[in-house]
Amino acid sequence: MESSPFLLLATVLLLLTATPGTHSQPAAAPAPPGPTNVTKILEKAGQFTVFIRLLKSTGVANQLYGQLNNSDNGITIFAPSDSSFSSLKAGTLNSLTDEQQVELVQFHVIPSYVSSSNFQTLSNPLRTQAGDSADGHFPLNITTSGNTVNITSGVTNTTVSGNVYSDGQLAVYQVDKVLLPQQVFDPRPPAPAPAPTVAKTKKKKDDGDSSDDDSPADASYALREVGSVRNDVLVCVISISLAWFYL
Ligand SMILES: *[C@@H]1O[C@H](CO)[C@@H](O)[C@H](O)[C@H]1NC(C)=O
Ligand SMILES: *[C@@H]1O[C@H](CO)[C@@H](O)[C@H](O)[C@H]1NC(C)=O
Ligand SMILES: *[C@@H]1O[C@H](CO)[C@@H](O)[C@H](O)[C@H]1NC(C)=O
Ligand SMILES: *[C@@H]1O[C@H](CO)[C@@H](O)[C@H](O)[C@H]1NC(C)=O
Ligand SMILES: *[C@@H]1O[C@H](CO)[C@@H](O)[C@H](O)[C@H]1NC(C)=O
Repeated sequence: MESSPFLLLATVLLLLTATPGTHSQPAAAPAPPGPTNVTKILEKAGQFTVFIRLLKSTGVANQLYGQLNNSDNGITIFAPSDSSFSSLKAGTLNSLTDEQQVELVQFHVIPSYVSSSNFQTLSNPLRTQAGDSADGHFPLNITTSGNTVNITSGVTNTTVSGNVYSDGQLAVYQVDKVLLPQQVFDPRPPAPAPAPTVAKTKKKKDDGDSSDDDSPADASYALREVGSVRNDVLVCVISISLAWFYL
């Protein structure tokens, strides 16, 4: 059988253009719903803009996102309302080192899921996410009577003032005071004085870029998918054409 290279080329072009679907089709299946996005939940609730800003600037938001994806234990968050930040003594947040800001945010996170009916079963002191994993390093105490849930850090006493979110893995409660860790705000005499020069230059993360972090990655993933489909088609077409050529 006689085949001209021109005919082969024409066939390849014909077959390539005959697969318009692969190019314009939207990504086949929608990605499975990822882990719960704490920031999004707080944004929806409304009155947590300062806490959201801190979650992002300290990198704790991303940490929680990863934790919710990889852990079966779940997370409980005591989210301080905006008014609780405005009632802090002026300059309180700015007086903290980067590391202490991370600790402050993590101090509002319990590394397990606590439903509103489980508060009375907790035993004090309760480990928070702050500091190293040594038990009791940054502890909170929780006491209940009836439906009232009291929290104390030793420096701050407050009461849970609302349920923001709960899905069996993540629970978010509103508190109307910022929980100040005793280790930072009222270190006891035996405790080592907080070193003023700790890791000042750890990682600096801007509020602004964290919202952009994921979209480019998602987009390039989608492109990669489309690209590989297209490559498969091309390989297939060339194989068919070659087979036909050698017949
Ligand atoms: C969630 O965890 C899985 C497996 O540990 C990992 O493959 C995936 O990339 C993670 N997803 C996100 C959005 O972090
Ligand atoms: C909770 O706090 C309130 C007000 O601070 C107090 O009156 C109450 O006794 C506390 N209850 C518990 C169980 O600690
Ligand atoms: C928390 O509870 C533990 C155990 O009951 C107690 O020893 C500790 O003093 C309490 N701390 C505060 C700040 O209430
Ligand atoms: C917190 O409550 C405890 C007892 O419930 C009390 O002894 C302590 O003075 C309170 N601290 C503050 C800062 O209100
Ligand atoms: C979570 O939601 C916020 C606000 O909707 C968004 O800026 C952020 O990129 C999301 N984070 C992740 C890891 O998807």
